[in-house]
Amino acid sequence: MDSPPIRPANWQGSDDGRSYASDFADGFASPSTAWDQANAVFIAGCDLPERWQQASRIRLLETGFGLGVNFLATWAALRSSGSAARLQYMSIEKHPATRADLQAALELSIASVSLPLARQLRPLADTLIAQWPPKIAGFHALELDEQVTLTLVFGDVPEILPSIAGRFDAFFVDGFAPNRNPQMWSPAVLGQLASMAAPDARLSSRCVAGAVRRALADAGFDVSKRPGFGGKRDCLSARWPAIDEVAQALPTTAIVIGAGVAGASAARQLARRGMAVTVLERDRPAAGGSGNPVGIVRPEPGSAANPVTEISAAGSSWLMRWIGRHPGAVRHDWCGVLRIARDERKREKIALQAAGTRADWLKACSLDEAAQLCGAMPTDSGFHLPQAGWVEPPGLVAALLDHPLITIRSGAMVVGLAEETNGWRVELADAAALHAPLVVLATAFDTGLASQRVATGRARGQLSRLPARDDRPLHMVVCRDGYIAPAVDGMHTVGATLQHDDEEAAARRSDDEQNFERLQRLLSGFCVDASEILSGRVGWRATTQDRVPLVGRLENGLYATLAHGARGVTCAPLCAEFLAAMICDEPLPLGREWIARLNPLRQAR
Ligand SMILES: Cc1cc2nc3c(=O)[nH]c(=O)nc-3n(C[C@H](O)[C@H](O)[C@H](O)COP(=O)(O)OP(=O)(O)OC[C@H]3O[C@@H](n4cnc5c(N)ncnc54)[C@H](O)[C@@H]3O)c2cc1C
Ligand SMILES: C[S@@+](CC[C@H](N)C(=O)[O-])C[C@H]1O[C@@H](n2cnc3c(N)ncnc32)[C@H](O)[C@@H]1O
Repeated sequence: MDSPPIRPANWQGSDDGRSYASDFADGFASPSTAWDQANAVFIAGCDLPERWQQASRIRLLETGFGLGVNFLATWAALRSSGSAARLQYMSIEKHPATRADLQAALELSIASVSLPLARQLRPLADTLIAQWPPKIAGFHALELDEQVTLTLVFGDVPEILPSIAGRFDAFFVDGFAPNRNPQMWSPAVLGQLASMAAPDARLSSRCVAGAVRRALADAGFDVSKRPGFGGKRDCLSARWPAIDEVAQALPTTAIVIGAGVAGASAARQLARRGMAVTVLERDRPAAGGSGNPVGIVRPEPGSAANPVTEISAAGSSWLMRWIGRHPGAVRHDWCGVLRIARDERKREKIALQAAGTRADWLKACSLDEAAQLCGAMPTDSGFHLPQAGWVEPPGLVAALLDHPLITIRSGAMVVGLAEETNGWRVELADAAALHAPLVVLATAFDTGLASQRVATGRARGQLSRLPARDDRPLHMVVCRDGYIAPAVDGMHTVGATLQHDDEEAAARRSDDEQNFERLQRLLSGFCVDASEILSGRVGWRATTQDRVPLVGRLENGLYATLAHGARGVTCAPLCAEFLAAMICDEPLPLGREWIARLNPLRQAR
């Protein structure tokens, strides 16, 4: 998550209103022509207006996001077309703009277009700016509305392309002039794009340089010139062969087993793709691990090579954006988190990451600074994670399930799964059976329904509660080997114990005492009397040895999102998007390496 470091765009304005990128000694299209160019060269060059009348979705890859003009113009054109097609737009950018620069540049640019177009573009630009991700290398999937997902990939095109898993119906190749920026136009890069082309894919570009046309033709594209735009005689259009591939129709119905955060998230992402989803829950939604009153949402700092660091960063950003797009739906507070290192080794690791990361993501703070931020005295200096906080997991489950295509059946205990010609037969304890072409297992640690061995463990955890008092405010979450959250409804949550092979469902006083000890390692003098600590909820985490959940395909039509461990509230929503994209043959919202990392059968013996 912190390597290679991402350097923001180095833009300079000029008198004619154009932005120049000094890194490439080249300029963006002028504000007055950029929008028309987006339509004439890129959108028309890929025949998008015709294609989204015929297709249920368009998967598009752009090299060079820049100011997002092409993206916003595509989104606006899709909206005006009245088409219900979904747009999965992925765009790679080496030097993303800061939010402030993007806002200023788009304001200027939109001010130069006709009033009706400006009225259409402004709310789209505002939505993009509101969700603009932190400057962290890698993938940032943004659900912008019910039809459009933008996945921004921050990094260098030649390095990033191999990690993109997906096939695309259209390509916008837009990386400044080849003589100023040759690495973006190399035969290797253009060949890589060809390797990701879906049948009958289109490609468009302003560039008609002979070397570029030859490289595309060598890679297998049928290349042609079209009339250019804005003083350029020609622009480029290319077409990938329309081979006779039997198109796999997407399932129209699905069954999800389990209504915790993982099942509710999976149901939501499938429903978003137009499937009618039945969620079967043996108890009631959020009755399992997802029933805690408070769940901490935060990136786990660490080295870039640590998968938990990467997925927790991507997962918390995804969830924060999802909640931002559904205001009022989920109780939460992005109050920030103070992370205290448990030992010197960990402190050094986090400090190293903090040194290479922006302070609005991770910042080392002294004891005094930490005390100021928290409103209480921590036991040690630490690291401030401003983009973090807490949510109420049962409220999150309810919000995720609140979709017209989702039906919930509580009290529906699934006892068997049998493969049929066109999908799966799902057998319930009351001898009823349901059928669906697609089944998702989201039962945490109850993996017996799968015929393969899916390796999960089970770890008990008890929360404790501490009544709030006016004389001891706490403004943010503080965590180390446990955590305390700011008061919600007059109670702080303190957590959590961790016990393997422990099935005791009733809360225990000895666990509260352990949580009291944890609290002493977090805050000095905040609570000195163990009798103030009250018992909280008991739950079980579904665990794996590598602390990475099990998400992906088990068999034809049978998928899993299981074992979300101690971070399911944070990570299961993004994992559901990953799973739904995998099921629907869409570009994945995480790098290709995550297919193997999350593979639910990776630990099967
Ligand atoms: C004490 C504790 C503290 C935690 N703190 C945090 C935190 O601060 N931040 C964070 O991100 N995560 C936290 N977690 C982890 C997080 O709560 C879990 O990872 C997450 O809730 C798991 O969601 P899930 O949907 O996979 O599982 P669950 O919520 O357990 O859902 C599984 C559902 O499947 C149902 N089910 C099972 N078998 C069947 C069947 N055969 N038929 C029908 N239904 C079935 C169950 O009834 C259950 O409702 C914590 C967990 C615990 C225990
Ligand atoms: C002409 S601009 C793109 C304009 C953009 N498509 C738009 O609609 O606003 C080219 C962009 O490519 C980016 N870029 C150049 N070389 C790159 C590389 N190797 N990897 C990723 N992005 C690169 C630049 O930072 C710049 O933002």
